[in-house]
Amino acid sequence: MDDSHGVGDDPYAPAKAVLDGGGFGSDPVETAARLDADDPLSGLADRFFTPDDGLYMDGNSLGPASDAALASLDRVVDEWREHLIGGWTDADPPWFEVGERIGAALAPLVGAAPEEVVIGNSITVNVHTLVGTFLDELLAGNGPDRADSAAADGSWDPDVEPAVLVNELDFPSDHYAIRAQLRQRGIDPDEKLRVVESRDGRTIDPADVEAVLEEHDDVGIVFMPTALYRSGQLFDVARIAEAAHDAGAYAGFDAAHSVGAVPHAFDDAGVDFAVWCTYKYLNAGPGALGALFVAERHHGLTPALAGWWGHEKATQFEMNLTYTPADSAGAWQIGTPPLLAAAPLEGAVETLREAGIERIRAKSLALTDLLIALVDERLPEVAIGTPRDRDTRGGHVALEHPDAERLSRALTDRGVVVDFRPPNVVRVCPAAPYTAFADVLAVVDRIEAILDAGAHEEYAASEGGVT
Ligand SMILES: Cc1ncc(COP(=O)(O)O)c(C=O)c1O
Repeated sequence: MDDSHGVGDDPYAPAKAVLDGGGFGSDPVETAARLDADDPLSGLADRFFTPDDGLYMDGNSLGPASDAALASLDRVVDEWREHLIGGWTDADPPWFEVGERIGAALAPLVGAAPEEVVIGNSITVNVHTLVGTFLDELLAGNGPDRADSAAADGSWDPDVEPAVLVNELDFPSDHYAIRAQLRQRGIDPDEKLRVVESRDGRTIDPADVEAVLEEHDDVGIVFMPTALYRSGQLFDVARIAEAAHDAGAYAGFDAAHSVGAVPHAFDDAGVDFAVWCTYKYLNAGPGALGALFVAERHHGLTPALAGWWGHEKATQFEMNLTYTPADSAGAWQIGTPPLLAAAPLEGAVETLREAGIERIRAKSLALTDLLIALVDERLPEVAIGTPRDRDTRGGHVALEHPDAERLSRALTDRGVVVDFRPPNVVRVCPAAPYTAFADVLAVVDRIEAILDAGAHEEYAASEGGVT
């Protein structure tokens, strides 16, 4: 990485200045080249494996491999070959505490203490165990306990069957899991899953979350995304957590679409728990382990899905038949961590930490600023479905087009990897660690060429599946 250019509070001020100055100028190629020359992160792209002859704009679904991720994976494969079972204790570092160790490395990215983050399971499993845990707390009469909120006094009226607040633009798996957890406690999800509606089909107004909390006094858990998976709307986590606590509810988040792209301050925001994956912006590989945050004040609870890997570490191998939870987020691990699905994360996180999450966010905003400006200027038939306000914009941009599915196929065939999300969104993710400003320009060039030639009309719409 070249540190000689413009590294101050905002190393991308030059990019912002170009955009604030009224568009892209008369020579977009020259302007993009200048922005790339001023980019302190430009050298990082060489460490990632992205197509030489293509443009990878899908890191919000699956991040690319990197030198560091493959090196940590190779190391663990070597340890397996060399140490066999001894690797749990003799590898350097030992495998036994892999969840806690890599969790601690992730903690600064979300503004948490090391023992508040652990890697384990998948997002969906972690939604099950964490929502289940806090439903059990509510059913036992224990609500959130926050000094700054009179309603969150640590108690819950056991006569009130708790509801969970979600929203209609959530990733579906979260609803499946929460519904299952409600059902398993004899609570009717059709009644007690309170779904905040979207006014425009793209975004959720935080005021509507607050309004639902005003209207219903049975919400025990507010479970919201940090960023919406389709439009990329980013939420003010602190505002939602405060609203939850003021309503006497726990505040939980699905942070899949922001961790690694946007800095978080979960502790300062008063978040109770959060889940995310590591295969998107954290670049840890397909099916890499999930991660979770549990605020320190909740450590010691028994997880809804308890398993021996969450047992107090010092006595785990005494093989007691009763469970003693680890006094950390580690308690929410369940079974043996899949080492080979954890190993690449170690290197991948190192690369992100070296780049600095604040700097990654600054570059990401400059890249998405540029993408939005170019689409506005050159693609009148494409609408921007992502909030334009930087504070409410995550790491990708949703391009809306009536023929979005066919457009995304035409792009993919021309080497621009994007994805389609029904009904009309092409998601374009210029991820900061490996995307150049010139790449953003090239993506817009290719969309323009396809639309001008009607090339997308040659494609049949698919019948579903991952694109
Ligand atoms: C926002 C969000 N939540 C949950 C999931 C489900 O994650 P997993 O399959 O790891 O359980 C995804 C998957 O992409 C997601 O994007």
